[in-house]
Amino acid sequence: MYLLHWPREKGDSQWRSHLCQTWKAVSELYKAGKIKAIGVSNFLPHHMKVLEENFEILPMVNQLELHIGYMQNYAVDYCRERNIHIQAWSPLGRGRIKENPFIVKMAEKYMVTPEKLMLRFLNQQDISIIPKSNNEERMKANLDIYDFTIDEFDMSLLLSLPQLGFSEEHPDL
Ligand SMILES: NC(=O)c1ccc[n+]([C@@H]2O[C@H](COP(=O)([O-])OP(=O)(O)OC[C@H]3O[C@@H](n4cnc5c(N)ncnc54)[C@H](OP(=O)(O)O)[C@@H]3O)[C@@H](O)[C@H]2O)c1
Repeated sequence: MYLLHWPREKGDSQWRSHLCQTWKAVSELYKAGKIKAIGVSNFLPHHMKVLEENFEILPMVNQLELHIGYMQNYAVDYCRERNIHIQAWSPLGRGRIKENPFIVKMAEKYMVTPEKLMLRFLNQQDISIIPKSNNEERMKANLDIYDFTIDEFDMSLLLSLPQLGFSEEHPDL
């Protein structure tokens, strides 16, 4: 899979044209069979529309910052309506949300670590996850998330939390 990391360079008034040039090159590599899947990262609906208006081949994946407390529903819903798969970067909020009392309490209820709760929360929404760890035990733990299920009521609670742990990395700001 090959992803465009950001939709635009900050301050670039010609970003639409630059984006089209880049997507044209990537689409050609895909059509030539050199890349199996092409996608984007940090694309919001107004970035995606530039591609929709100019290309037949659209991204297959959009990799977004997604974790408990930062679910970017507008962008996620937009992609889902177009069958664009969603992948979460910083699914653990890079450590910023693990001490949140609400998350800690919910993790205790399910007898799991806060990190396991955070990963299962995304997985139950059919979002792929790419947690990063430099520690072998934590890498293994991050694969072992399927032996419990967060119930519908608790999913709704987690989905309705106010904003938490935003990285402050935004493609337009
Ligand atoms: N597309 C983009 O714009 C974008 C932006 C940022 C990041 N990413 C990608 O997203 C991936 C992950 O994101 P991220 O590194 O920002 O954040 P993350 O995966 O949410 O958090 C990583 C942090 O969590 C710790 N950790 C991992 N597993 C743990 C566990 N089971 N228990 C306790 N702590 C745990 C790690 O420490 P230890 O290493 O000590 O375990 C590390 O400090 C990376 O591959 C990165 O390249 C993409």
